Amino acid sequence: MRIKEPQLLSVLGELGVQVQPEVSLAELTSLGIGGTTDLVRITRHETIPELLNLLEGYGIAHKFLGGGSNLLVADGELAFVALQLVQPDPDVVIEGNFARVDAAADLGRTVTRCAKHNLGGLEGLIGVPGTVGGALRMNAGAYGTQIGTYVREVKLYRAEARRLEMLGGEQISFEYRHTSFAPDDMMLAVKLELPSKPYAEILQGIRICNEKRRASQPLGQKSAGCIFRNPPGGSAGRMIDELGLKGHSVGDAKVSDRHANFFVNAGEASATDMLALISDVRDRVQKSFEVTLENEVVVWNA
Ligand code: EPU
Repeated sequence: MRIKEPQLLSVLGELGVQVQPEVSLAELTSLGIGGTTDLVRITRHETIPELLNLLEGYGIAHKFLGGGSNLLVADGELAFVALQLVQPDPDVVIEGNFARVDAAADLGRTVTRCAKHNLGGLEGLIGVPGTVGGALRMNAGAYGTQIGTYVREVKLYRAEARRLEMLGGEQISFEYRHTSFAPDDMMLAVKLELPSKPYAEILQGIRICNEKRRASQPLGQKSAGCIFRNPPGGSAGRMIDELGLKGHSVGDAKVSDRHANFFVNAGEASATDMLALISDVRDRVQKSFEVTLENEVVVWNA
């Protein structure tokens, strides 16, 4: 979708909003899949309500893009613009045991930044790609850690109230790969409370998690992490593996040889290929195990 109206472009400029025309979302997603649209970059949180009112007034649909690491975007010209926060500098501010982190901050870099201030707890999240905002929305987790445990405050754009709000950690429910945020709420910043730990000890924890991840996940390849949530008490990866589906493909969309819940773009995979592979694998698991796997990956249809 293109923003062409000169008057709108000029007001957006006044709000400090940068519009990059016809950006390929394949280049902004870890899967390397996705069509084109205008990228609307936000430099000041406070302008978001006005920006969204303007877009609505002009009939321009939008979606919020984080780090693009858990996202499958449709092919071709997209019927919405993508909104993205510009990363402020600094994006992590430490005060005692609290870290105030901008939603646009890189999650891995946040883990190491906190570690350097002897703040631990986040070691398990070290290899999870994406932004802190994305991790917050999905309650990202790995190796026994989930981000929600440490959240004390969240600044967000509340879609229903159409304004910026601050929520206390106790007002948010964090479950396995799920939170009580509405789908169109936009994460802006978070205050984490982290346990004190010596830097060397945190580094050791980080090393162990990195090794485990390297041993079991296809890190060098284009993927969106795990495609399906694990069903209660089970493992989607193990079930897909047991069906002998490692290496199974539709076009260049392929079930990883290393971890069967990772689907990789082995070349020029399209969203259509990837969606067909997801649906095929889901059907096969359903037939064999009578379990309906739910997507963990977020899908943006055209
Ligand atoms: N397994 C297989 N074959 C495979 C993959 C896994 O047999 O191809 C078996 C493993 O041997 C193990 C079990 O399945 O016994 C579980 O595997 P793993 O430890 O890799 O954990 P997972 O449940 O597949 C989850 C998260 C990952 C996270 C890891 C480590 C989900 C959907 N996945 O994977 O998160 O990194 O634990 O904590 O919750 C993600 O969210 O995108 C993601 C990758």
